[in-house]
Amino acid sequence: MPNLADLFTAALEARDHAYARYSKFTVGAALETTDGRIFTGSNVENSSYGLTICAERVAIFSAVHAGATGIAAIAVTGPDGVHCTPCGACRQVISEFAARDVPVRYALADGTADTTVGELLPLTFGADALAAMRGLG
Ligand code: THU
Repeated sequence: MPNLADLFTAALEARDHAYARYSKFTVGAALETTDGRIFTGSNVENSSYGLTICAERVAIFSAVHAGATGIAAIAVTGPDGVHCTPCGACRQVISEFAARDVPVRYALADGTADTTVGELLPLTFGADALAAMRGLG
């Protein structure tokens, strides 16, 4: 079972590696895979702002590259004292690899709160829609 407290601590440590030169909004993310491995990420910004990648996607792409097939839990934090939940793009990417009941711990201005992937992104567009379309052909 994922330990969300440990995962959030890993996200805080990952945040130290953020390259947030432009926004100064440092983010750290940590996830546990369904096979029990931990992967972390931090945001990496770019002078061409739109090329910035969020901490969550750095962690997820790292996990997938290492052969992980699913996410069991994820934690995210922004700068101290600021609430930070995964952005919309990251919610979509998380949903590709995580079931709807997967826990997500995120930072509040003071402390943390827990939600689920399904609560973060209801009415998800996913692989089932593509499979259904193929079924029509
Ligand atoms: N950011 C993340 O890393 N994850 C999120 O879910 C929200 C936003 C980053 C992107 C950018 O570097 C900075 O926070 C400000 O938007």
